[in-house]
Order: sequence, then structure tokens, then C-alpha cells
Amino acid sequence: MASADVLARATALRREIEQHNYAYYVLDQPTIPDAEYDWLFRELQALETEYPELITPDSPTQRVGGKPLDGFAQVRHAVPMLSIRTETDTEASGAQAFDVRVRKELGLSEADPLVEYAAELKFDGLAINLRYEHGLLVQAATRGDGETGEDVTQNIRTLHCIPLRLQTEAPPAVLEVRGEVFMRRDDFERYNARQREAGKLTLVNPRNGAAGSIRQLDPAMAAQRPLSFFAYGLGDVQGWKDAPRTHGATLDALAGMSIPVCSERIIGSGAAVLVAFHDDIAARRDSLPFDIDGVVYKVNAYDLQRELGFLTREPRWAVAHKYPAQEQLTTVLGIEVQVGRTGALTPVARLAPVFVGGVTVTNATLHNQDEIDRKDVRVGDTVIVRRAGDVIPEVVAAVIERRPDPEPPRFNILEIYPVCPECGSHVVRLEGEAAVRCTGGLVCPAQRKQALLHFAGRRAMDIEGLGDKLVDQLVERGLVHTPADVYGLDLVTLAGLDRMAEKSAANLLAAIEASKATTLARFIFALGIRNVGETTAKDLARHFGSLDKLISAAEVDLLAVRDVGPIVAQSITQFFAEPHNLDVVNSLRAAGVHWPEFAGMSQSAGILTGQTLVLTGTLPTLTRESAKEMIEAAGGKVAGSVSKKTAYVVAGEEAGSKLTKAQELGVSILDEAGLLALLAPDNNNAQHRLDL
Ligand code: IVH
Repeated sequence: MASADVLARATALRREIEQHNYAYYVLDQPTIPDAEYDWLFRELQALETEYPELITPDSPTQRVGGKPLDGFAQVRHAVPMLSIRTETDTEASGAQAFDVRVRKELGLSEADPLVEYAAELKFDGLAINLRYEHGLLVQAATRGDGETGEDVTQNIRTLHCIPLRLQTEAPPAVLEVRGEVFMRRDDFERYNARQREAGKLTLVNPRNGAAGSIRQLDPAMAAQRPLSFFAYGLGDVQGWKDAPRTHGATLDALAGMSIPVCSERIIGSGAAVLVAFHDDIAARRDSLPFDIDGVVYKVNAYDLQRELGFLTREPRWAVAHKYPAQEQLTTVLGIEVQVGRTGALTPVARLAPVFVGGVTVTNATLHNQDEIDRKDVRVGDTVIVRRAGDVIPEVVAAVIERRPDPEPPRFNILEIYPVCPECGSHVVRLEGEAAVRCTGGLVCPAQRKQALLHFAGRRAMDIEGLGDKLVDQLVERGLVHTPADVYGLDLVTLAGLDRMAEKSAANLLAAIEASKATTLARFIFALGIRNVGETTAKDLARHFGSLDKLISAAEVDLLAVRDVGPIVAQSITQFFAEPHNLDVVNSLRAAGVHWPEFAGMSQSAGILTGQTLVLTGTLPTLTRESAKEMIEAAGGKVAGSVSKKTAYVVAGEEAGSKLTKAQELGVSILDEAGLLALLAPDNNNAQHRLDL
């Protein structure tokens, strides 16, 4: 038998855990670290295991208890669960219409004072009645037809935000709390992401998520769905001492008993306050953490509510003022693709026009092939389209029951679009990537601006002055189609562009001219091959030493390059397999873009391995960068200062103290020709000493 001490400890633990639950799940302000909470919870579990007679139905350990049900029992509501009248005028003036009706019903004249209202959110979930007897949650039921609902107590008990016992010293004998079970958007996204990863079914939207979870026959399944609850009213009430006399005070009192109540609510008098609330919430609708489909206005005082009474099944004292729906049904007329700036082909559903989220929508994104497969959207399908705020409209799900007969085929982007609809280049899907992409990076009009900006970038061809605005103009006026066209621009054309003075046009032209002398690594990077960044470009240059070798490299050859894996290798071969891209490369060379080529590591591997070289002065043809690239390709290092360990100093014109130092130390000195000879594939051993 448990001693009085043990009993007291269990009771105290329960109270403390429930308080932490409230702070965590309702207030979202945890007061203790998770580990400490777990510790309390485990202590209680241990006590209850040792003394099962201590277990109470309101114990936090008993939230997920029961076995799967065969069906839900029927529950007759003690007080019917009414529905609410919807104001037909969706404009803000709908609030005025409600106020006018209320005043008329109450027989108020213009001289009478304003009516006090409570305004709150219309949550988009499932209505639930929670029955507390002497503070203990004894039953939870759905609305059903308003008279009779379903007993979903087992599932509701798994919601951590719903207290199993009201936190109050003097609970009413009976207190029925009515409100909405819903799913927060972040919980919905997280849940779906997890399901997707596990290859399991996802929820269509938060509302279906909430409703579906509560209707789960297995409470263990329901427990895994992240649900929330907000109270918005009362049902049967007995023996509530000093019961509140207004709706607002009731919600405050419920919050005081640890029932979740939404803080987005106001009390105010007259229609103007309601209009302001309506507009304020409309403006913030998309940034709320959960979906709402409107706001609700209620006459605040209970005695006035009683006076107004009911019209059939709807109270005259409340109205729902809806916002434009964010989801609608429509049909898919076709599926097309849009080529993005990076070459990704995004499937877009062409839809029968539908008014959703405040605008007429005629197309909606399907994101990528994986999403099409997951949602199994086909041409001819009836689909749910969602548009929330400024977010691009999206196809949420296909309504499979309404699929035409005979069934339309599954939609596969690669089958329908083997080549890019913009440029005719081949379309591929890289391993491990969701997107299907166009391989015509240099020629595709959709990718033109992006490709040019990348090409001219500081780390690529480094054409100073060829930025965003200029690229826009050059492309939009049809002056530049591919990077090769940049080298055909003349002063007159450039000076004729917006915001282009003759001086800046001349500067740009000089920058274009100067960019012709480049390095192989820069050139490879400038091509904008997918997955080939600056470092990979350098590695490729070092390895192959010549562009033609890179172009003709097979995937296996590419895999021999440091850090190049199958995905990068595939990207490269696909890029050069596209004849359009090769045309551009050849035009660039024909326009005078050049770089020093050399043997590359694959042939001359190791000729300078372990050796350190120092560059000084200006070499006649090579830039510092290309000289360094070539030395590194041969396995050598380039250092900034000369020491006894320096293998060679490569000296050009106006060489300074480094040359003197080399002479003092007796280090070998080479000129450019000497360096080139050293690195030449057919003359590996030649050494040109510089005669001084
Ligand atoms: S009051 C007598 N307040 O909207 C009035 N209902 O038909 C009873 N709802 O299914 C409802 N948010 O679940 C009220 N703040 C709110 C609400 C709300 C959502 C739902 C409710 C019911 C429907 C009304």
C-alpha cells in the first residue's frame, strides 16, 4: 500500500507537471528545461508503476491510454452545438450590417449607446465540446449534427494543451468548454516533412489534418499528430459560482483555469471597432501561426445575447465574417513547364479559372517531378488549389475520386519535354536532384541573363562594368544572346544604352578586351556548368591543362580529378555533349578569348612535385595567375619569398629583390620561356637558365 507521503508526492508531481505542460504547450513559455520535465515525469511514472492504485484518470501519464476503437460512441449534447450565421458581405462593411441588425433587434435608436462586442478569430479546424465535471475532463465530443456528436475523448486526451483537470480551487460541478481543434502551420509542415521522408502519406492541409486526427480510431496514431486547441464558448454549465456575465470575461476565466484561449481578440463598442479588427486581422492573416477563414463578432453581454435569442439554429448575437477562401477546387487543363534562370524546368498546371485567395488563378506551380508523383496530379484531374497571401498559387492535391474515366496517364516531365521548350537543348535530371534541367546553359534565353552575369563575374571573366542593369538591357534589346556576343559589341552600340556615357562605354569596351587574356580555370568557371564552382574549375584546369582535353574527357577521366564525383562528372559531360554549348565555346575562342595551355597534371604529373617556385617581375605573356596555375598543375608550389629551399625563381621584367636574393643563394633562375619549356609535355627535362 502506498503511504500518505507517497500519495502526497504523486499529487504534487501531477500538479507540477500539468503546470509545466500549460507553460509549454499553451503559453509557449517553458519554465524548466526539458530534461528536468522528463525527470519529474519519470518519477511519477515510477511511483505509479510501483503503486498502480495511485493512478488517476487525470494523471499526465494517462494521456495515451486506450486501445484502438471499433467506432465512436454517440454523444447527445446537453446543450445543442449551434452553427453560426455567415455574413454574406465579405467587405469590411459586413461588420456594419451586423451592428445594424443587432441594434434593430434590440430596439435601439440612434440616440442609444453603442453595443459592446467581442471580436475573435474564426479558427479553421474541428469543433469540439469538452465536458469537465468537478474539474475533471470526463468527455470530449465532436459537433456532429449539433444534437448528437461522436465521443472522441481518447484522442482529445492526447492533446497536451488540453488540461485533464482544470487548474482552479473551486471548479464548477459541470463546465462544458467549446472550441476548435486545429493544426498550426509549422506543425503541419514539420509533420508532412517527416512523413515525406519516411515515404508515408502526407496531410492535404492543416484543417484536414486536425479533423482526420480526431477521427482516428487508434489514439496512439492521433497522439502523433501535432494538434492545438482554442476555446471560444460554453455548453452546459452547472454550479459555477460567480459565473462571468460576458463572453469576454468567460474566455478570461477559462484562460485562468489553464484552458487555451487565443489572445487575438478584442472587446469594443460599435461597428467601427469590428471593422478595424476585421481589417487588422485581414492584413496579418498570412503571418498568423495557423489558418483562419474569417473573424467572428459576438454581442458581449449574456443578458443581451439572451434577449436576441436564436433564429432556427443560429444565434442572432453572433456572426462569422469570412475572408476570401484560400483553397478551391478546379480542373487541370494541361501541364506545361517554365524554364527558370538556373535552367530548372518547373511544371506548372494550367487551370480552369478559379477565384481563390482574392484573385482569379489560371495556373499553379507543381514544383517538380517528385511533387507531381507524390500528389499524382494528371491532366484532366480535379484538384485543390491554394493561394495564401502573396505566395504563388499551388496545387495541393488531386481529388482522385473525381478522376476522369478512362484515367489520364501519369505526367512525366522528361517524357513530355525531352528538350527544353525555350532553346531545344537536351533536358536531364541529375542524380539526387529534384529538378529536371536544361543543359543549354550558354544559349537558353531563360538562362541568358544569369549566364551572362556569371560569365562576366569577378572570379570568372572579370569584365568590370558588366553588371545587372547592363545585362538586362543587352538581353532585352536582343544585343547579346550568348556570352560570345559580348565580344562583338562596339562603342556606338554601348554608348546608345540607357545611362551609358561615352566614357563608361569606352571603359567597358576596354574591360571586355582585357578579359580576352584569361586562364583556363577562369574560362571553365565562366561557362557556368552546373555543379562546377571556382575550386572545381581550378582542379579541372590543373588536371587537364587544355580545354579540348576537358571537352573530350569521358566520365571516368573526370572522376580521376580531385573532388570530382559522379554528379559533377555527369554535369560536365552533359554540358559539353550539348552542341549549342560547344558552338558558344568555339565562338569565344574565335573572338580572341585565350589562355595558356599546358600539359596538365594527368600527363606531367609530378614534374615539380615537392618543389617550391617563386615568381618575380612581369612575365612577357603569362599572368601571375596562369603561371601559378601551370606550376601547381605540375605539382609545384608557389611561394612569396626566396630561400635556400626554393627550386626556381621565375623572373620577368623589373624583377626586384627576390631576384637578387636568388642570385645570392645560388637558386636556379628561369625566364618565362624556361618555365614553359620545363612544363612542356614533350620536353620535360629542358631547363632554360636565364643568362644574366
Ligand atoms: S462560436 C453559437 N466562435 O465555426 C456560436 N465558432 O458554425 C457557436 N468556429 O463549427 C460558434 N471559430 O467550430 C465560434 N471563434 C469562434 C469560432 C467558431 C471557429 C467554428 C465552429 C463552428 C463554426 C460555426
